[in-house]
Amino acid sequence: MTPKTTHNTMSKEKPWGGRFTESTDEFVEAFTASVGFDRRLYRHDIMGSIAHAQMLEHVGVLSAKDCAAIVAGLKAIESEIEAGAFAWSTQLEDVHMNIEARLIDRIGEAGKKLHTGRSRNDQVATDLRLYLRDGIDDVGRAIQRLQEAILEVAEREVETLMPGFTHLQAAQPVTFGHHMLAWFEMLARDQERLRDCRRRVNIMPLGAAALAGTGFPIDRAYAAKLLGFDAPAENSIDAVSDRDFAVEFAAAAALIMTHLSRMAEELVLWSSGQFDFIELPDAYCTGSSIMPQKKNPDVPELVRGKTGRVYGHLMALLTVMKAQPLAYNKDNQEDKEPVFDTLDTVLGCLKAFAGMLPATTIKRDNLARAAARGYATATDLADYLVRKGVPFRDAHEIVGRAVRLGLDTGRDLAELDLEELRGLSPAIEQDVFEILTLEGSVKARRHLGGTAPAQVREALRRARKRLAYG
Ligand code: ARG
Repeated sequence: MTPKTTHNTMSKEKPWGGRFTESTDEFVEAFTASVGFDRRLYRHDIMGSIAHAQMLEHVGVLSAKDCAAIVAGLKAIESEIEAGAFAWSTQLEDVHMNIEARLIDRIGEAGKKLHTGRSRNDQVATDLRLYLRDGIDDVGRAIQRLQEAILEVAEREVETLMPGFTHLQAAQPVTFGHHMLAWFEMLARDQERLRDCRRRVNIMPLGAAALAGTGFPIDRAYAAKLLGFDAPAENSIDAVSDRDFAVEFAAAAALIMTHLSRMAEELVLWSSGQFDFIELPDAYCTGSSIMPQKKNPDVPELVRGKTGRVYGHLMALLTVMKAQPLAYNKDNQEDKEPVFDTLDTVLGCLKAFAGMLPATTIKRDNLARAAARGYATATDLADYLVRKGVPFRDAHEIVGRAVRLGLDTGRDLAELDLEELRGLSPAIEQDVFEILTLEGSVKARRHLGGTAPAQVREALRRARKRLAYG
């Protein structure tokens, strides 16, 4: 390739072409190019370049005139890209060189000064952090939308009785509102993890240049302030090389997906004819091309399925980093697609659930009927005996026999008569029937974190105050 010194028309020459005598193999060019996916960084790349130029002007490396031309040129390029009028070129490899070449094309000599004291290594690390910072904020807001939807359902179903499960066997009655608040807590921790991760994302690599820093008298704190970073990275070698911040984000995202997948699984089970606890809105389901009676819970199934790709991205990012010697290596170009797809996937899943949940019908009668089956108040009977002075282990044994009697005669505990119960323990009296009801059972659990409607109302009030985005 013959290096060119002027760029009157948008040049496809490599900015690094100077030391090469042979041009890049066509396949290798396509193989190594990242512009097909990293063009998504354009806005943050331009943001970073503007701050870099302004910092160079601030320290006197760039004239005010050149800086103004660069800033105006970059803004015009941003508009071109947004209008779909930008001609992306694979020969120019990545988003950074595409934009820089276009800048030189537009403003001439001044454009060639932008890359002073900078390398694509600190540039790309800066871009990705800026991009991910926005992405994390988007995910944070999307989590909150879903939390709000969950609170809306919880509020409506504070008194709704349902069976609580362990081992997917009916265990004890709970309120539907309480179950919803369990989902809320899972997401609240996800939200915290994201906020924590964001602190480490929001550190600026710019100024590290290729790896060793630059001889120009740069002011990194100035650029960091312009870009809203909390601080410049301490070590130039580390700044350009590590992508642990992306790994952390992927890990936080993987846990969000774990939680969404667990919710999805419950929604799939509950909407089946066998459980029949809920009906998902038609707008979120599809039918079968062969079985006319079918209404399939596609959205929760797809969310459950998409969990796999997010786990995969976490594994991909960890593997990209392992065994990389310091500092930058081309391996790092593989960081972008996992981050982008993780963001797209998590945002899509959160949005789908936030829309679907409030429109879902909760079948209160079916839930109550299911809660009444399966001796769900057996623990309440044991606790009753303890309050009457029977040691818990004996009480457990007595109730076990009561359940056996019920099973043998096809009746629930509340359907046994007093004499039969007294035959098992004389401590049992007429007042036992109050605690054998589902309402009595949940009402008794009125401590902090308990399922009693009064407690769930209190928990709802606290939950609203904890929403992160006000
Ligand atoms: N496209 C590259 C990446 O994504 C930009 C940095 C390239 N730096 C380099 N020295 N080749 O990582």
